[in-house]
Amino acid sequence: MLENISAAPPDPILGLTEAFQQDSRSGKINLTTGVYKDEQGNTPILECVKRAEEKLLKDEKSKGYLGIDGLAEFLNSVRELALPGLAAEDQVAVFQSPGGTGALRVAADFVAKNFAGSRVWLSTPTWPNHPAIFQAAGLETKQYPYLSADRKSLDAAACLETLEKEGRAGDVICLHACCHNPSGVDPNSEQWQQIAELTARIGMLPLIDFAYHGFGDGLQQDRAGIERMAKHHQEYLICSSYSKNFGLYSERIGALMAVCPDAVSTVKVRSNIKTCVRSNYSNPPRHGGAIVACVLGDTELRSLWTSELAAMRDRIHQMRSAFVEAMRHRSPDVDFSFLMDQRGMFSFSGLTPMQVDWLKSEKGIYIVGSGRINVAGITPSNLDYLCDSIAEALSS
Ligand code: LMR
Repeated sequence: MLENISAAPPDPILGLTEAFQQDSRSGKINLTTGVYKDEQGNTPILECVKRAEEKLLKDEKSKGYLGIDGLAEFLNSVRELALPGLAAEDQVAVFQSPGGTGALRVAADFVAKNFAGSRVWLSTPTWPNHPAIFQAAGLETKQYPYLSADRKSLDAAACLETLEKEGRAGDVICLHACCHNPSGVDPNSEQWQQIAELTARIGMLPLIDFAYHGFGDGLQQDRAGIERMAKHHQEYLICSSYSKNFGLYSERIGALMAVCPDAVSTVKVRSNIKTCVRSNYSNPPRHGGAIVACVLGDTELRSLWTSELAAMRDRIHQMRSAFVEAMRHRSPDVDFSFLMDQRGMFSFSGLTPMQVDWLKSEKGIYIVGSGRINVAGITPSNLDYLCDSIAEALSS
C-alpha cells in the first residue's frame, strides 16, 4: 500500500526553511518563515517568558489534562487582550488552541459541520496555508481580489465589487486583522468600514486571522479593524496566535474566539466547538497557555512584555527603512519606498519568481516564491550582502 504513494510537494514556506538548513554556504540568509530575529539573527526567548517560566516551575502543581477549552486564566486574558470592551464575557466562546493554525482548523471544522454550503472567501494573495486548512475541513474556498495590479497597495474597489456580486449570506469572509500575510498591506479605517458594512449587509460571517497582534503599529492600533467589524457584526470568529508576539513559536499556542449575539447562543456554540476539538486534538497543551496567562496576569510581566514587543516592532521598522534606503542607492530606478506603507513582518518585494530562484541558487538568499520577504530576518550585518544581491538580480 504505502509504496504506491507519490511524494507530496514541499510546503511553500516551511519547505524553504528545510532547504535553507541544508544549505552549507556561510553567508546564506533566510527570509522565508515568519519568525522574528534579533540583530544577531537569533530568535530570542523573551525575558517576560523566561520569568513566567521560572514562576511556573515553582508554582505549577499538575500536568493533568486541561478542559477541552483550555486554561481558564488564559481564556480570560486573551479575550480581554483581543476584544477589550467589544463583547461581554458571556458572548464569547474562547478556546486555547495549538497555535493560530490550530484555531483556524477548529474554526474551519466548526463552520463545515454547522453551516452546509458555506464558502470561505480568501484574499488573493493570502497565507498559502489558508486554502489548505479550509479545504481539509471540506469547505469550498473562493478568492476575492486584494492588491492593486502593481501589488503595492490595496484595491478596495475590486475587493468590494467581487464580494458584492458573488458573496452569499452564510459565506465566511476571512480577513487579516493587521499585518496582512504575505503583503503587509492593510485596509485603512475607511476601507475597514466599507468591508464591515458590505459583509454585514450580505450576511457573511467574518473570520479574522489575528496572527500578528502588536507587530503593526501597537496593541491597540492593531485592533482597529476588529473594532470596525464589531460595530457592524454581532457575530464573528477570531483566530489569534501568540507565536509571534510572545515568541512562543514552538510552544504552539493560539486561541479561537467565537463572538456570539447573546449568552444563550454562546453556550450552544461552545458545546459545538468542543466536539470539533475533541475529535481533533482532544484538549490543548498546557505550557504555552500557562506562560501567556502568567505574563498577562502579572502587572510587571505584562509591562515588560509590551516593551519587548515594541522593541521587536521597532527593529522590524528600522530594517524596513534601512532596506529601502540601501536599495535607493543601489537600484535608483526601482522605487522600494512603498515598503514603508506596509506593516508587520512581511513585505511583497516585487521580485519575480525567476529573481527569487536566482537569489536562492546563486546567493543563498531564501525568499518565498511570491516575492514575500520576512523583514524581521534582515539584520545590520546581512543588509549589505542582501541589497547588493537584490540589485544584481534586478539588473540582470
Ligand atoms: C509564515 O507565514 O511564515 C508563518 O505564519 C509561519 C507558517 O507557519 O507559515
